[in-house]
Amino acid sequence: MNIGIIGCGAISGQYMIGFSKCKENLNVLACADQDYEKSNSFAKEHKILSLSVEDLLLHSEIDIVVNLTPPSSHFDISYKSLRNGKHVFSEKPVALSTDQGKKLLNQMKLNNLYLYSAPDTFLGPAFIKAKDLVFSEKIGEIIGGSVSFATHGVEGWHPNPEFYYKKGGGPLYDMGPYYLTALIKILGPVVEVISFSQKTFGNRQVDNPNIKYNNIEVDVDTHYIALLKFQSGVVVDFQISFDIWKPYDPKLEFYGKISSIKFADPNNYDGEISIFNKEKYEWENVYSPPNKDNNYYRGLGVIQMIKDISENNVNKNDLLIPFHVLEVMNAIDSYDQEGKWSILEQQF
Ligand SMILES: NC(=O)c1ccc[n+]([C@@H]2O[C@H](COP(=O)([O-])OP(=O)(O)OC[C@H]3O[C@@H](n4cnc5c(N)ncnc54)[C@H](O)[C@@H]3O)[C@@H](O)[C@H]2O)c1
Repeated sequence: MNIGIIGCGAISGQYMIGFSKCKENLNVLACADQDYEKSNSFAKEHKILSLSVEDLLLHSEIDIVVNLTPPSSHFDISYKSLRNGKHVFSEKPVALSTDQGKKLLNQMKLNNLYLYSAPDTFLGPAFIKAKDLVFSEKIGEIIGGSVSFATHGVEGWHPNPEFYYKKGGGPLYDMGPYYLTALIKILGPVVEVISFSQKTFGNRQVDNPNIKYNNIEVDVDTHYIALLKFQSGVVVDFQISFDIWKPYDPKLEFYGKISSIKFADPNNYDGEISIFNKEKYEWENVYSPPNKDNNYYRGLGVIQMIKDISENNVNKNDLLIPFHVLEVMNAIDSYDQEGKWSILEQQF
């Protein structure tokens, strides 16, 4: 299948590395970016066509648009792609509002197309292994879980950090999809949330001399603590923050009637897994990546999508997960803070 990439920024090169590992039925034909210079240099580096966004969306030979634009453009690019008869793989979040999510799903069904969305890290070996362990006899019935992700934001490393502090950014919409997707894949749908959030810093200082601006006005909340209640009755505490100076290791843990399990960071494709050993009364490593260098790159989800479509094996329930993640993030973000549980409408 022929791919057209829209958005030739920081993450696009990682996708190309991932694609280069797939030898079957995947050909990156063209790229586009609203910044023509970026598109031209990406095209030159990877020996592909550089087109305008409009021309790429109309190109008759492109089957899948890989949408690597910032969150505020995800809906627009994905919607136009579906309307033009292209399948879509979108970076996360899949859209910003539930309404946009519904429009994407309707357009997908109307044109008999598929929209997959990041994250795709659950396709990596660590999540597959951990999921098998959860559903084995080793952990027992899950009674709880805990998530935390904390850094002091992205301005220290990202070449264009502004969008992380605008609508669709912030830790919830940027990192939330990794953790929420993992939780939902293990525990099923979320039915209620309670949440508290704040914007601790109104401005972010950018010290990188290669970036044209040195100050970002923060429009979104950047520190969240929520409780998520799943259909199964399990309640998970969920902390996600760009405001914590001393970052700690990302945490994704599940507590069962028999034991507890620490997952690898779902922001990565591979990593360590531990189970609590009751006899020794300590965490015991049960899985380490065979290759210490990260051998996995973005793009696994696109490769899986091509395989699923080619084999007529698309899982219709999985297609809804990014939309349910969006619904949960919106519920966390818009929580009324009156101390009541916010009941989800379960639209996806
Ligand atoms: N950088 C990372 O480490 C990383 C990791 C995982 C996922 N992501 C996700 O990937 C997406 C892109 O992130 P990035 O870091 O590459 O950002 P970036 O700012 O480096 O690149 C985005 C590119 O999209 C272009 N663009 C913006 N709006 C456009 C539009 N309407 N039409 C065409 N082009 C447009 C910009 O000119 C830019 O070149 C985001 O959703 C982000 O959350 C990024």
